Amino acid sequence: MPTTPASERPTAWWLSTLKRRAERIQGDYLKLDEPIRFANEAEQKAAVNFFNAALRAEESGLRQAHELANEVAEWDPALAEVLRLYGNEEGWHRELLTEFLAFIGGEIQPMGRVTRFFYRLYGRARRMETIVLTNLMFETIGSTTYRMALANVEQPAARQMLTILTRDEAFHVPLNVHFLERILERKSAWERARLRLIHRVLFVGLLALPLASRPKAAAFDRIGTRALMRGYARTLGSLFVQRPELGLGAPRLLLAALGLGRADLKRETLLAIDADAAARAAERQSVHVTALRDSR
Ligand SMILES: [Fe+2]
Ligand SMILES: [Fe+2]
Repeated sequence: MPTTPASERPTAWWLSTLKRRAERIQGDYLKLDEPIRFANEAEQKAAVNFFNAALRAEESGLRQAHELANEVAEWDPALAEVLRLYGNEEGWHRELLTEFLAFIGGEIQPMGRVTRFFYRLYGRARRMETIVLTNLMFETIGSTTYRMALANVEQPAARQMLTILTRDEAFHVPLNVHFLERILERKSAWERARLRLIHRVLFVGLLALPLASRPKAAAFDRIGTRALMRGYARTLGSLFVQRPELGLGAPRLLLAALGLGRADLKRETLLAIDADAAARAAERQSVHVTALRDSR
């Protein structure tokens, strides 16, 4: 049965849902009663690196969403409000991560070389469709990393942090698809073609990120380089499987190099972006968070 695209939920639905979520945020906090124990210093250091990377992603999401909101306000005030409330959720994640980093004995670190390079490049993007697509892809790989970490990490406090982030990303991913669709409606065929090219470049670039992140974080999340690359390829590749008309499919050669075929993207719903998935993810308490494992 064909699923309903996320775009069929009108902006008003996203707006009222985000307002409801904002009211309930107070009742949602980290319960950090038991001190966290790491096996050794290397694991603790890797955890600090892991959650620092998450914090940078939240910061970037917050800033870009609020900047976009100012632009979008000129032609769609309701969508602008949705962007603002979405940015606020990322700001709330950033607060939780700051608290969590202190709890595990770490602090906010300056960005590493590769991370800085990516965010600088992203910071230079001016076109709305580029910003939204980049953010959507960042959200996707973030959510993939959290879900794969959930398959390995055992400390209850770290699992709690990962679960909150994963649960909310399940809502943010279809929401970003809604942003992208609203923005693309106003774009020319040329601009859409340009976005397809950017998508290719980003796909390849993001798949290389595990090369930089593994030496820093693997002692905590225990995800191998190839496994994480495959995870990113599967989730990024599955994002638009149901929307072939957008032309944002995975580069086949790259999938083949990682031992993945089209069937790997269709076999399971890695990231659901349809309207029903969005509705299921809207109520924080009822989201069922599942760990993601490498497919072989
Ligand atoms: Fe977030
Ligand atoms: Fe998010």
